[in-house]
Order: sequence, then C-alpha cells, then structure tokens
Amino acid sequence: APEATAPVAAAPIVVASNRGPVSYALREDGSLAAGRGGGGLVSGLSEIGRDPQGAAAVWVCAALGEGDRLAAGRAGRRLDPADTGGLRVRMLDIPAGTFSAAYNGVANSVLWFAHHMLWQTPLEPVFDKEFRSQWAAYEAYNTAFADAIAEEAAEGAVVLVQDYHLTLVPGLLRTRRPDLRIGHFSHTPWAPPDYYRLLPDDIAEQVLRGILGGDRAAFLTRRWAEAFAACCADVLKAEVIREEDGTAAAVRFAGRTTRLGVHALGADADFLRERAHRPDVEERLAALREQVGPGRRTILRVDRTELSKNIVRGLHAYRRLLEDRPHWRGKVVHIAFAYPSRQDLKVYRDYTAEVERVAESINAAFGTAEWQPVILHVKDDFARSLAAYRMADVALVNPIRDGMNLVAKEVPAVSDHGCVLVLSREAGAAAELAEDAIVVNPYDVEATARALHLALLMDPGERAERAKRLAAAATRLPPARWFTEQLAALQER
Ligand code: G6P
Repeated sequence: APEATAPVAAAPIVVASNRGPVSYALREDGSLAAGRGGGGLVSGLSEIGRDPQGAAAVWVCAALGEGDRLAAGRAGRRLDPADTGGLRVRMLDIPAGTFSAAYNGVANSVLWFAHHMLWQTPLEPVFDKEFRSQWAAYEAYNTAFADAIAEEAAEGAVVLVQDYHLTLVPGLLRTRRPDLRIGHFSHTPWAPPDYYRLLPDDIAEQVLRGILGGDRAAFLTRRWAEAFAACCADVLKAEVIREEDGTAAAVRFAGRTTRLGVHALGADADFLRERAHRPDVEERLAALREQVGPGRRTILRVDRTELSKNIVRGLHAYRRLLEDRPHWRGKVVHIAFAYPSRQDLKVYRDYTAEVERVAESINAAFGTAEWQPVILHVKDDFARSLAAYRMADVALVNPIRDGMNLVAKEVPAVSDHGCVLVLSREAGAAAELAEDAIVVNPYDVEATARALHLALLMDPGERAERAKRLAAAATRLPPARWFTEQLAALQER
C-alpha cells in the first residue's frame, strides 16, 4: 500500500490509550471488519479528528484481540485511514501474553478495582508471585508505548497519555524525550489514600512517580484530582502546592513540578442529536415502543456490564418499587442495556450471569401475559441506545463510583421529552448535574427505589425545567473542546 512506503511525518500531537478508535473483527473468510471501539474514553476522544489540531495528531493504541493483531501486523507503521475515520492511528502489536497480563491482570483486576473501591470480601486482592509477573508485563507494555510515542512525536510535541493502563508512560517518556510536553489524563476516579494504599507499597509509589513524570496530571472532576494529590502527599511525601482557596494546583516531587488539571468531559450534543434522528434509530424507537406497550412509563439504564456500574442493586431497587408501590405494576417497564465487557475476567462473567438471573427473577415474580417488567438487552447496539435515550421517562445511573459517566450526560442531550435523571452521588457527573438530578447513595436500595418513584411522579413543568438545565450542563464541554483545552494548558510553559 502507498501508505506503508511513504515517509511517515513526525506528529506535533500524540494521543496514547490502550483502546483505540477502531477495532477489527476477524470474519470467517479471514478478512477483517473495522468497527468503532466502545467505552467512555473512546467516545470522548474519537471526535477529536474534527478539530484541525486533532486531525494532525497520531493516536497510539494497543491491538486488543486477534483481528487487531492481524490488522496491526499488516499495516506499515500506521493503519489505513479509511478504517479509522481519517485518524492517523498506530496500533501496537504487543505479545498476547504480555498484553493480557498487563490489561487483565494489572490494569483491570487491580488498578481499576482500586480506583473504583470495588474490593470487598471475598474479592480481596492477593499480591502474590503471579501478580509480580503481571506487573513486569505491565512495565513491558508501558515501555512499548513509550518507545512508540518517542518514535512518533516531533520535536517539542504535545503528548496526551490516557488512563490507568498507561501510568508509567509519562515517566518513561521523560527520560527518552525531555523535549516533549507530556500530560496524563485519568478517565476513572482516583482512590483516596486509605484505599490506594491497598496496593503494594513499591507499586503504589511507581504509579504515582510514573504520572508525575509528566508536566500535567488531569482528571474529570476536582474530587479525583484532590485524591491524587492526597496520595502523592501520603505515599511519596511529595509537596502539594495549593491555590488560595485551598484547591491542589500542582505536585512538587524529585525536583520537578507537575500541574494538576480538571476537565469535565461533556456529551457531544451536535454529533448525538444528528445521529439520534437517523433512520436506523427511528426504526429501533418504533420497535422499543412496541415492546414496552402503549401508555407505559420507562426507566432506562445503559452500561457496560461492569461491576462499578452497580446494575444488580439497580435491579433490586426496581424490584422494591414494584413490591412497595404495587400501583406501578403493569404501568412501568425497566429497559436495561448491559453490554458485555472484559469477559476474559471471571468476575465479569459471573457479574453478567448475576444481572441476567436477577432480571429474570423480577420478570418471573411480577410479569403477566401483557406486561414484561424488565427488558434486558445484552447485545451492544449504539443506535438502539440512542433510541432508548430519546424515549425514556427516567434514566437510572447509579454507579458505586465512576470517573464521570457519559450516559448521565448523553441522555439529557438527546431526550425527546425531558427525561428525569436518578444519579449516584459517586459518579463524577454528579459534580455538575446534582442540582437537577435526583441524587442517590448507590448502596442504598431503599432510597434508590424511592427516587425512582419520585422521578416517575415528577410533574411535567418541573421535569421540563430540570431537563433543560441538565442538557445545558451536560453539553458544556464537548470532546473537541475538552481536547483543545488540554492542549492549550500543556502548550503554555
Ligand atoms: C473506561 C475506561 C476506558 C476503557 C473503557 C472500556 O471508560 O476509563 O479506558 O476504554 O472503560 O473498557 P475496556 O476495558 O473495554 O477498554
């Protein structure tokens, strides 16, 4: 292909993340089908190509599966832009064993659990010999990213490193390329020191040192930035530099200063509203309406099937609603989209089974010939999600903890008739949406059931007022601006 032989221009901006904007499925005939990657990070970042600076960026990501590995192997240094929506993407073919140990073993089983505070008996962490070898793989995987970025980046380029998979990259890159401006962005919460210190001491230190190798460390909300600063002070005995109002502005450690930033990624109103009115969405809207039945209210949730999303407690809350307030029986339907995630990990497979079991038990207990109380869909379908966003009366977003939760912002952005939002106070989105949502403690099933009842009862005037303000707050910082804000902050010396 001409792409592979043409000289590859050094990039003024490099974005790095584990999951990239494209993923390849291997068809039975051996050909590859390109599709869009899932999850909040990718939906946020995929739109950066619409920004002129974003279009010049190179995106470095990992090959996640068999199809990706083949595609990465076949490409020269970068993938075919026809597959990537025009983005310049370099996909790293990290050996499958190293990748799995780093991604499943360290990133998703340990760092993700730490930041979301998901450990509880009997899921307590065991840091044994196997974990140590997974950690070595995590180091190798981070090194592969640092090497590739060092190769792609032009002199003085800006590098935006994403998420808990790549915490060591800023530090590794600093030693390779001191000329670069390096930022790290966490799309997750950050755990407070007492919880963060569950990690082995040397690893707790290494992660913080890695991020502090950059010029900036940024987060989705002030709360996570403060927790990070507190961990730096507690674990590394680093100095936290504060603004006059007491907020953490920077961390000084080992002779360097890393500035802290907060960028509350919002929903992309223009993209979503246009997409939500295309024929495929209209078609699914009609099908969903038919499935729900005339005159019924709907409570919607849309998540990856992810332990932190708290789907099972959400179902229990809905059951309580039907038990305690029987007048809702037959009049409301809970639409739950729970899309498969991280199925290589047993806890995720078990969780998926539990979600299905609890949904079925509600249908068995309350369902009638005319009414199915829970409609659970587990096959990922973006157009159907948008259709459900448009029609829902109530959206339930009740994570145990969440960096932001973009569903809480996407629903208000596209809702047809003002959806009421029941929102966990532990979602980063609560920092901006709490005033107009009904806020719940995600562990409190009784309170969540009550919130659902109040949401269903809210009078149309109040509903409309709140929905208007929710939509404005949810779309305040669209992805393209979220991206350019960070570039600007990194470019100012
Ligand atoms: C979260 C993380 C992202 C990740 C996404 C989907 O949003 O912050 O880094 O891409 O979940 O998870 P997955 O493991 O499927 O990439």
